[in-house]
Amino acid sequence: MARVLVAYATKHHSTAEIAEAIADELRARGHAAEAAEAGHATADGFDAVVLGSAMYLGRWRREARHFLAHERQRLEALPFWVFSSGPIGEQKADPSPEDEKWIEPRKVVEQVEELGAREHVVFGGRVPDDPGNFVERSLLENTPEEFRDLRDWDEIRAWAGRIADTLPA
Ligand SMILES: Cc1cc2nc3c(=O)[nH]c(=O)nc-3n(C[C@H](O)[C@H](O)[C@H](O)COP(=O)(O)O)c2cc1C
Repeated sequence: MARVLVAYATKHHSTAEIAEAIADELRARGHAAEAAEAGHATADGFDAVVLGSAMYLGRWRREARHFLAHERQRLEALPFWVFSSGPIGEQKADPSPEDEKWIEPRKVVEQVEELGAREHVVFGGRVPDDPGNFVERSLLENTPEEFRDLRDWDEIRAWAGRIADTLPA
């Protein structure tokens, strides 16, 4: 059994729900997993880490970027996995390099690769359903209902299952 921290950064909670689902799946597979806000979490005392953030304007949330900076040395010494959550609305079948800039946090991916992350994946996001400003409100109004929540729980749980399989039983 491994002790796994699932640290996340969110603004409108949808990434927190992804982190909870990952932790839940890890627990179902016999590990001691705990989801926690990246701003209040440390990797100290854990055997493995999953770190995830919502994407805003092509970047990770600050709390996740800070976690990466502060926990650098611990992460280097641990198995760790990374996810971003973001894409909403109707998705293009073949995104251009320009589109990719908004989907993948390029600098973060470079940093985590340097630190030895096992994998970085992108999960669909959810349009904020409690819009706090004009941009969020217009996003909600202009996104057809069927494209507002692109989180694929089977995909998320399958990824967590693959992580569980690589950790010591
Ligand atoms: C102002 C704004 C900017 C966004 N920018 C991006 C972006 O650059 N790339 C992306 O993939 N998603 C972007 N999104 C979508 C969010 O990442 C998505 O809604 C995510 O699920 C929000 O996560 P949270 O609920 O954990 O805060 C943006 C959303 C808003 C409201």
